Amino acid sequence: MHHDATQPTVLAMPRLSRRRALLGAAALFASVPFAGADAQKRGHVANPNPDPLAGHLIRIDGNENPYGPSPKAREAILASIVRAPRYADTEVDALGTQLAAAHGLPVKQVIIGTGSGELLKITALMGANAGPGGELIAAVPTYEELPAFGTRLGLTVKGIPVDSKHQHDLGRMHAAINAKTRVVYICNPNNPTGTVVARAELETFIKAVPEQVLVVVDEAYIHLVDDPNAGSVDALVRDIPNLLVVRTFSKIHGLAGLRVGYGLAHEKTAATVAAWGLTYPNGTGIAAATASLNDHAFLSQTRTALINDRRRIQAAIDARGLPRAASQGNFVFFDTGGPLKQFQERMLAKGIKVGRHFDGYDTWARVSIGLQHETDAFLAALPKALGA
Ligand SMILES: Cc1ncc(COP(=O)(O)O)c(C=O)c1O
Repeated sequence: MHHDATQPTVLAMPRLSRRRALLGAAALFASVPFAGADAQKRGHVANPNPDPLAGHLIRIDGNENPYGPSPKAREAILASIVRAPRYADTEVDALGTQLAAAHGLPVKQVIIGTGSGELLKITALMGANAGPGGELIAAVPTYEELPAFGTRLGLTVKGIPVDSKHQHDLGRMHAAINAKTRVVYICNPNNPTGTVVARAELETFIKAVPEQVLVVVDEAYIHLVDDPNAGSVDALVRDIPNLLVVRTFSKIHGLAGLRVGYGLAHEKTAATVAAWGLTYPNGTGIAAATASLNDHAFLSQTRTALINDRRRIQAAIDARGLPRAASQGNFVFFDTGGPLKQFQERMLAKGIKVGRHFDGYDTWARVSIGLQHETDAFLAALPKALGA
């Protein structure tokens, strides 16, 4: 647009087209996807996010949570508009206070990031900054943001294959630690396998790691765990100075696009991680996260819906006798019995996008849990996509 400096600046609000206004209103008020158990039984759960950009493609490839944002978060997002001209100091402080209370920790032990990915990358920066020749230990396969960034920074990544149950092999990971090790990454539940390591076992592992090595436990999917032996290690950050627990608002809270994550660590470690921060969080995301944290009805309904559909998918795979990992996340990882590419293409022909390829698992697919009707569509397309 041509800007003529001699003309007084006119501030005009952009006009909302009727279509846009309706879509906006629909997105706001369709925020009760769980309302009406009868409607749910009939499979008529309203899509809470009528998204003109998405077309008709069913996206079950990115481990996102299409039930979000929560009703309270939707309101907070709209209300945040008037705060957009300001830096989000007040909002960040408020979220920090709430997170600290939620975890029973002092606020100085909480670090807020622009997505948890930022915090994961910071740990690679810290590891590389400690001098050349450093090593990072991670499972294979696992979520690659940290190992990939570490590699870029010159850290040597020691990939330890998951065991026969597709779980972190903590014994081998411990044995791989040496004087050059800077970071050990444990993704629990693990992406893409969805498997967990038992909490007691993980605590023993963490306590055996030498103090100069930072242990990063990524609990992105922890809210979806229903295995009673698994659980958060958040409380350990009170006493263990070389532990960073990482959480995100991108999964159970359904706020991936708004980029909010956080870390919990011993006070000194938290200060170091915060000092490496590259970005400053956005107020809308922080306001949404704070509201979502308090939307207990939404969180528990979402958890139930996702776990129910995880069971449905796992049962369908088991009924066909296909190998799968025991998922505790909002996704299922299983062996399609043929090349993944073929399965992906057959699913895409039905308008369904499933997850990408993972090294060492050439015939395995990762499918995320979408809305109930999206899971229905996936299950309906499954027999043919498997070539049955
Ligand atoms: C295990 C794990 N950690 C972290 C992330 C990144 O989350 P964020 O959106 O908070 O950066 C993901 C995203 O898929 C993930 O699977």
